Amino acid sequence: MGVVASAPAKVILFGEHFVVYGEPAIVLAIDRRAYVKIENRHDNDLHLRSTTLDLAGHYENGIFKIEHGNAREARTKFEPVKCAVERVLERHGKHAGLNVEINSTVPVGAGLGSSAAVVAAATAASGAILDVKLSKEDIFRITYEAEKIVHGTPSGVDPAISTFGGAILFQIDTGFKPLDVKTDIPLVIGDTGVERSTRMQVEKVRSVKEKYPRITENMMKAAREIVLKAIDAFKENDLETLGALMNMNHALLYGIGVSDESLEWLTNAARKAGALGAKLTGAGGGGCMIALSKDENLQQVLEAIQRAGGKPFIARKTDEGVRIERT
Ligand code: MEV
Repeated sequence: MGVVASAPAKVILFGEHFVVYGEPAIVLAIDRRAYVKIENRHDNDLHLRSTTLDLAGHYENGIFKIEHGNAREARTKFEPVKCAVERVLERHGKHAGLNVEINSTVPVGAGLGSSAAVVAAATAASGAILDVKLSKEDIFRITYEAEKIVHGTPSGVDPAISTFGGAILFQIDTGFKPLDVKTDIPLVIGDTGVERSTRMQVEKVRSVKEKYPRITENMMKAAREIVLKAIDAFKENDLETLGALMNMNHALLYGIGVSDESLEWLTNAARKAGALGAKLTGAGGGGCMIALSKDENLQQVLEAIQRAGGKPFIARKTDEGVRIERT
């Protein structure tokens, strides 16, 4: 039968990219989850299959062998999962073979943290099947270490939200604090369908920062002020201010070079259709945008994003972080 665990995707409401340089970010776990099923094997090999990406392969004595799909893609996508499972096996202290099956409802490479959600779920499921006790802090650490392999210098925001769920204020130095968000935050997410690598987007920002250090320093300060103001707006349930702050945050992200034509189309379409604010979310360069909207305008905004060429869906906050679904 095996063990099934799941973890949520996320949207960054404020502060992506700037968070890599120590600024704060506000992140929300959403009601789209990645599911990972793990079963014991009779040998010591690690078999991985993604039904979502139609990829399969296995590690035999540490060497990857493709079974289905593109070998390079499979290796890239499976590598952090393998790394996390190996960390759990180390704690288990004995060799063991496992079958890992990934089934995700999170768009991949779209800025919604699909990779961290999969890795957090795989960590929890392998802990449960191997009888290794893992606290949420342990799952976060293991997921973060695994994410470093694919993302280069990630801030840790994706593993944190997939593990803990809810709404958090995240900063590299101080870690994460749960944010008390009482108000519902009606969001439409628009997927541009343009897949991109977080690592490349983060590198792009680094080169802009190196070229224009004084200008980007001021942009970092502005990003911080936006987050501070947003914390007050959440306390006051002030959706209008949150929308205006999202537009400002998007302008900063455009300025550091991480928007693209597809994101501009969708954010403009959402604003024209009555969204209170719209911005790219996550790494940018394609991927997803988010639009904050009054409940009564949600459908209108959703249709406008669709007409502009995006794949929209309505998202709600979820308080449930990583969890075991079935043992
Ligand atoms: C990716 O979801 C968010 C970025 O800020 C990178 C990171 O924080 O690791 C772009």
